[in-house]
Amino acid sequence: MSAVDVSRTQVGIVGAGPAGLVLGHLLYLQGIESVILEGRDREYVEGRVRAGVLEQGTVDLLIEIGVGERLRREGLVHHGVELRFAGKGHRIPFDELTGGRGITIYGQQEVVKDLIAARIESGAPLLFGVEDVSPVGIESDSPLLRFRHEGQERELRCEVVAGCDGFHGVCRDAVPDGALRFRERVYPFAWLGILAEVEPSSDELIYCHHERGFALHSMRSPHLTRLYLQCEPDEAIESWTDERIWDELSARFASEGWSLKQGPIIEKGVTPMRSFVAEPMQYGRLFLAGDAVHIVPATGAKGLNLAVADVRVLADALARWFSRGDDSLLERYSEACLPRVWRAQHFAWWMTSMLHRMPDDRDGFMARLQLAQLEYVCSSRAAATSLAENYVALTDVPRATADQIV
Ligand code: FAD
Ligand code: DHB
Repeated sequence: MSAVDVSRTQVGIVGAGPAGLVLGHLLYLQGIESVILEGRDREYVEGRVRAGVLEQGTVDLLIEIGVGERLRREGLVHHGVELRFAGKGHRIPFDELTGGRGITIYGQQEVVKDLIAARIESGAPLLFGVEDVSPVGIESDSPLLRFRHEGQERELRCEVVAGCDGFHGVCRDAVPDGALRFRERVYPFAWLGILAEVEPSSDELIYCHHERGFALHSMRSPHLTRLYLQCEPDEAIESWTDERIWDELSARFASEGWSLKQGPIIEKGVTPMRSFVAEPMQYGRLFLAGDAVHIVPATGAKGLNLAVADVRVLADALARWFSRGDDSLLERYSEACLPRVWRAQHFAWWMTSMLHRMPDDRDGFMARLQLAQLEYVCSSRAAATSLAENYVALTDVPRATADQIV
């Protein structure tokens, strides 16, 4: 797409992660022009292994906008998860507790591949390998995105800028000091995640609490297992040989009559654990979405789902503004998103606090509280229902009616 001349558009989107790509596609379907600027190359973006759990609302949206064909074919539908602690597993039956709901396991990079293919097929501009993106004049009516592409300095005049450039992006920093309020917690641990070429050891996800630390069993296909283990926040990945990883995972998941299947490890990475929210999610003509404006610790599996929920609200608000000149939905973008963001923050923090080994817990007080909580969740229908309904359907966005949009 490098030869496209892009100097003017309605919506300048920074970032081709799930937020930027879904937003671009929703706008395309409404006849609104956008240009997506992505810092990395296509291969990198499509190969980045991250999330895996999609809520039904996310799946429904992807199908509705025409990018869900492979997801429907290859996605693994799950109706429960296992909580494992004190060496025993306890199933939380989502379907029974939430009126038939479940989740779908489908890798984020597969979602991203499907969205990039749709973008390219639509002919709408998506530039990879863009450097030094800088939003200028976001408080004016015609903000600008300055950037460099293929060695040339470029300017893209926009009516609106969508900052979908993740936690380390540049858009949030373009807002003047003091205009946003930040709230943050950094956890004293991280996740070491691997992808292994081996059949999953269980049909469902296993969230495992153990005195050696948290572990999570997930999957990507009948032949690919995704596993995570709690590690130090500054963990040197080189110190984790494949053998050490398998030994540690096997020790944490140990349960009578169950064993962890092992295979070649094809991907390894360390993910920090952080809670972060910037408020409001907008300033002038800049609208922030997804990880650019909020981060949740991965334990609740909410980040990607929240990113999609944000841009769904933003796309409807932009459609109304471009079609009618009515900015009432746009003005209320933050207000519409933040309650969901904070509910997800609470759930992710709660799951994280219940399941991870707390490093400063010298007398084991926290560990006893965690076990008490886990036992309660697994023995009380009310507590299990609370976990289930947050896990399966927290980021559902009520559909705007056509009348609200246009
Ligand atoms: P990103 O995916 O970060 O995309 C931002 C894009 O912007 C990137 O492509 C980046 O290259 C680009 N960019 C950055 N800076 C610039 C710049 N200056 N100029 C141009 N482009 C730029 N979420 C779930 O819902 N379920 C899960 O199961 C789950 N598991 C996870 C497991 C792990 C190990 C991790 C790390 C995350 C997990 N998440 C999960 C979270 C999820 O991956 C993120 O919330 C999601 O990627 C957010 O999407 P986004 O589009 O907002 O940001
Ligand atoms: C996966 C990631 C998560 O953060 C989670 O809570 C569950 C599953 C995954 O990558 O499959």
